[in-house]
Amino acid sequence: MPSDLVFRSMTIADIPFIVAIEHEAFATPWTPEAFKNELTSNMFARYMVMEHDGQIIGYGGMWVIVDEAHVTNIAVRADHRGQGLGERLLTELQRTAAFFGANKMTLEVRVSNEVAQGLYRKLGFKPSGIRPAYYSDNNEDALIMWADLNFYQPAAEEQEW
Ligand SMILES: CC(C)(COP(=O)(O)OP(=O)(O)OC[C@H]1O[C@@H](n2cnc3c(N)ncnc32)[C@H](O)[C@@H]1OP(=O)(O)O)[C@@H](O)C(=O)NCCC(=O)NCCS
Repeated sequence: MPSDLVFRSMTIADIPFIVAIEHEAFATPWTPEAFKNELTSNMFARYMVMEHDGQIIGYGGMWVIVDEAHVTNIAVRADHRGQGLGERLLTELQRTAAFFGANKMTLEVRVSNEVAQGLYRKLGFKPSGIRPAYYSDNNEDALIMWADLNFYQPAAEEQEW
């Protein structure tokens, strides 16, 4: 896994790069307008990009509403998957959500998406229900998952000043 990752807020200028990843990651990708609306008109929205060598290799977004964070999307560029980067990205989202005051995080995931579910379970998410036919492209059910964010403990190296 690259060690020199940068995590920063998504900007309007990032949208074309994000949409390219969105198209390789999802059956019903968000449009550029959808991302623009999130960045400019949704006061609850927080979108993060993960960069390596100046290139965006992943992104994730969430709505932080009082003490709950709802993940809207998360993706790693296809040629960078399976190296621990999704885990780094979601950990940063969790840390950021906690910083903004959330103590729990929720998301929906396709019942068939075992890769993403594996990542979520690893980071503390537990299944809590089903939204039937949530995905319009194939009427697939969504698994609803929740994680408690209070589990977060700084790594030992972060505690050394
Ligand atoms: C889901 C996604 C973000 C995971 O990112 P990633 O960088 O590939 O994942 P990581 O390498 O950090 O792996 C983290 C965990 O995910 C699971 N995982 C990753 N790749 C996997 C694979 N090929 N098969 C099974 N589980 C896998 C494992 O639990 C893994 O933990 P482990 O390495 O200790 O076994 C990425 O696959 C992706 O962008 N997918 C397309 C978009 C998507 O489905 N987003 C989620 C929508 S709800």
